[in-house]
Amino acid sequence: REIISSKRQRTFAMVKPDAVHRLGEVIDVIQSRNFEVSQMKMVQLTRAQAGLFYREHEGRPFFEPLLDYVTSGPVVAMELITTNAVQRWRETLGPTDAELARREAPDTIRAKFGKDKQSNAAHGSDSDVAATREIEFFFPSSKVHDIMVPQTTARF
Ligand code: TYD
Ligand code: MG
Repeated sequence: REIISSKRQRTFAMVKPDAVHRLGEVIDVIQSRNFEVSQMKMVQLTRAQAGLFYREHEGRPFFEPLLDYVTSGPVVAMELITTNAVQRWRETLGPTDAELARREAPDTIRAKFGKDKQSNAAHGSDSDVAATREIEFFFPSSKVHDIMVPQTTARF
């Protein structure tokens, strides 16, 4: 049904420290792909906050360097809304490794603004559940507006 194909979904995006100096260009890409920026703020994460945000990766070899990197300067957190926002934002980001992105997906944010596998310009939620958690992490108690129907719970 038509109403299902037009379902809007939220996702969480974060411009990481190495790309904040190109924030305008990142937002240009976001807007040109028809994402609505519904919440946004610039914050300096503490190491404890970064560790919580990335807790699923605790114990992996890149975890401590990742915390160094993501706390090395301010980040810009955003809630984005569009149809299939989670998947579409991941596609817009490109692969985790910015060097691979430049080879295989040059028209992506990580290809354009990232450096390598760690300094990869921006974050995107990998699921609807992660998006909800990550939006709440950065925008606590934010109300879900009427226009934002979480995709996995939508019933028509
Ligand atoms: P991951 O969730 O696997 O990637 P993505 O951001 O594409 O969802 O990893 C989280 C971040 O950890 C990733 O953006 C960059 C960093 N990272 C590394 O530095 N080295 C690695 O080998 C991996 C897998 C990730
Ligand atoms: Mg991830």
